[in-house]
Amino acid sequence: MRQATFSNKQDASNYVAQYIVDKINSFRPTPLKPFILGLPTGSSPEGIYKKLIEYYNQGKISFQNVVTFNMDEYVGLSPVNDQSYHYFMYNKFFNHIDIPKENINILNGLSNNIEQECKNYEEKIKKYGKIHLFLGGLGIEGHLAFNETGSSRDSITRKIELVPSTIEANSRFFDNDLNKVPKFALSVGISTILDNSEEIIVIILGKNKKFALDQTINGKMGSKYPSSWLQDHPNVLLVSDFEAYPKL
Ligand code: GLP
Repeated sequence: MRQATFSNKQDASNYVAQYIVDKINSFRPTPLKPFILGLPTGSSPEGIYKKLIEYYNQGKISFQNVVTFNMDEYVGLSPVNDQSYHYFMYNKFFNHIDIPKENINILNGLSNNIEQECKNYEEKIKKYGKIHLFLGGLGIEGHLAFNETGSSRDSITRKIELVPSTIEANSRFFDNDLNKVPKFALSVGISTILDNSEEIIVIILGKNKKFALDQTINGKMGSKYPSSWLQDHPNVLLVSDFEAYPKL
C-alpha cells in the first residue's frame, strides 16, 4: 500500500482533491465512457469535497460524465433527514457541481425490500465493469464503509448491524444521544470495494484514527479490523495527517 502523510488536514485533503481531478481529467470521460467514482461520507472527506467544488468553480473539472456510487446509508433515515448520507452528499457536494442526478447512486435505506435494494446496487456496479477510483474513510476501529468487525473478505452489499463503538462515535451527529443513532445501515461489502475497484484511496485524519490506520497498515489481515483487508488490493493509497499516522 502506498502512503502519503501530511502535516495538516488541509494539505492532505487538497492532495486527494487534486489527485481525483487529475485522474478524471486524464481519463477524458464521455457519456459512453463515464468515470466511475466511489464516495464516502463522514467528517474526513469534507475538506476534499470543498476543494473539489472550488476546482469545479474555477473550471478545472466537470462531473458531467462522472458516475458516483456512495459507500453506505443508514437504514430508516429519509433523504431529507439532515443526518442521512443522501442529505450529506447533496448538501456538501452534489448540489454544488454539475453532476447529472441520474449519475448519482446512493443506497436507499428506506427501501421496503432491502435485500433487493442491495442486490441491485451490487449488480449496477458490476454492470459498469469497474470503479475507477474508490475513495473511502476509516471508522475508529477500522471499519471501511459500514463494514464492521466480522466483515469477511467476500462480503458484498448488505444490511449491517452497527457495533456500539460506531454508534457512540456517530452519536456526535445525533445530539450526542445514542438512542437517536440508527442501529442498522446498508453498505457495500469488502469484496464490492476490493474486487471492483481499479484504485482505492482512503483519507484518514485526526489522532483518534491512529489505531485504525495502524491496523490497516500493520495489522494481521482479517475480519477483526476490516480495513486490514485493504492489504489484499494491489492499488491502495492511504492519505493521512501526522496526527493519525501511527509512527509519529
Ligand atoms: C461513518 C461512515 C464511514 C466513515 C466513518 C468515519 O461510520 N459510515 O464510511 O468512514 O464514519 O467518519 P469520520 O470521517 O467522520 O470519522
